[in-house]
Amino acid sequence: MAEGTWYAGDIDRVIVTEEQIRAKTDELAKQVAADHADADSLLLVGVLKGALMFMADFARALGRYGPPVELEFMAVSSYGQGSSSSGVVRILKDLDRDITGRRVIVVEDIVDSGLTLSWLLKYLAGRGAASIEVVTLLRKPDAVRVPLDVRYVGFDIPTEFVVGYGLDYAERYRELSDVAVLKPAVYQR
Ligand code: XMP
Ligand code: MG
Repeated sequence: MAEGTWYAGDIDRVIVTEEQIRAKTDELAKQVAADHADADSLLLVGVLKGALMFMADFARALGRYGPPVELEFMAVSSYGQGSSSSGVVRILKDLDRDITGRRVIVVEDIVDSGLTLSWLLKYLAGRGAASIEVVTLLRKPDAVRVPLDVRYVGFDIPTEFVVGYGLDYAERYRELSDVAVLKPAVYQR
C-alpha cells in the first residue's frame, strides 16, 4: 500500500500484495489452461462485484496460456446488511446466456463460509453446464467445513475481514491493488 494514497491511514496491514496476486494469477491460469488443453473454449462466470479485478486479470492470464474464454457475470447477494453469510442468496444479475454444454469456471474473489458458492454451484448445475469448476483468489478457514469442491485456490488467509482488489467495506476500498485488513477504527466510524 503506497504511502500517501488516499486510504493509507485506514490500513492495518497488507496480507496479499499486488505482486503476489500477479504471480499467483499467472500460476492459476497455467494450471487451468493445462487442465483444459482439449477445450474449444471456457466460459468464465465472474461473481460481481468482488471478483471484478480478479476476473479481469485471470482472463488476461488465460489469454497467455489457455483456450479462448468468454466472459459472463452474475451478481448475487448473501450478506444483506450484516457481515456474516446467511446462506440466503438473491440473484441481482443473472447470466445473459445459455450455458448448456459449456465448460464453466466460476471466478470468485473469496470463499468464506462457502454458503454463497454452494448455492451458486447448484444453480449452475441446474442449467446444464458440461462441467463447473471454481477458481477463487482467497479462501478463509471456515470454507473447509462445507463440502465444496473448490479446485483452484489462490491464497488461504486468516478469518479476518479483508478489503482491496475488488473487495469492499461499505462499497469502499475496491480500487486498492493489494488485499488488506482495515484498522478497527474504520468500523467504528
Ligand atoms: P460466503 O460466506 O457465503 O461469503 O462464502 C462469500 C461472499 O462474502 C463476501 N465476503 C467478503 N467480502 N471481505 C469482503 O469484502 C471479506 O473478508 C469477505 N468475506 C466474505 C464476498 O462477497 C464473498 O463473495
Ligand atoms: Mg462485498
